[in-house]
Amino acid sequence: MKSYHSILIRYMSSKSWMERHVRDTFVKQSRYQNYRSRAAFKLIEMNDRYRLLKPGMIVIECGAAPGSWTQVIVECLRINPPECYKTGAVIALDKADFAPIPGAICLPKTDFTSHISQANILSALSDRKADLILSDMSPNVSGQHDYDHERIMQLVYSTIRFSSICLKDQGNFLAKIFNGNQTEKLIEDLSKMFQKVRQVKPEASRADSTELYVLATGFKGRENQIL
Ligand SMILES: C[S@@+](CC[C@H](N)C(=O)[O-])C[C@H]1O[C@@H](n2cnc3c(N)ncnc32)[C@H](O)[C@@H]1O
Repeated sequence: MKSYHSILIRYMSSKSWMERHVRDTFVKQSRYQNYRSRAAFKLIEMNDRYRLLKPGMIVIECGAAPGSWTQVIVECLRINPPECYKTGAVIALDKADFAPIPGAICLPKTDFTSHISQANILSALSDRKADLILSDMSPNVSGQHDYDHERIMQLVYSTIRFSSICLKDQGNFLAKIFNGNQTEKLIEDLSKMFQKVRQVKPEASRADSTELYVLATGFKGRENQIL
């Protein structure tokens, strides 16, 4: 019997996937607005709903390539050119290579899970703390849901541990997950560290995907670290 994985690969390379991609309004819109990918619209929507990005903020963005979220962040923080007396900063990293985005501190070829990478991020922060930590990191999807869920959870927990070191009190955290059997425990863990935790499915996130975002607001401070 063919594995789900091989069926998925065949589906994605099939004409119907390509046709759907070309028809996709978010793909069209991203080309029109010069975003590097349709993912931009997920952050735009979540930002419109929850007012996450403001000029003057320090933002750490994990899993930034090809860079459409970074483009949105630079616009919202108004850092290129600096339009605000309180200029903020975005540190955008990815384990893949990606072209620099004017206004952002870009760390391509940076695996977030390595200690050296996290030390580099802390040094780019230079004693400041972050207002917002974002993760759109995603492992290479195998098509085996439980395995992919487990791997993205490892990335999310690594981001949570890092957040407890360098997030400001009352700071916010947003991370992508694939919904699965560890989601409830994740929400429980985040609820101990943050005042409010929500699960968000933006319209630009494909309805047939288990992709979901967890938004945790109001960091209670390092003394409430649970991991
Ligand atoms: C969905 S893409 C991000 C899209 C991005 N938000 C944008 O708007 O262009 C997921 C990214 O997570 C990155 N990633 C996965 N594991 C990572 C890790 N351990 N460290 C850093 N980046 C990682 C992948 O290389 C990939 O570029």
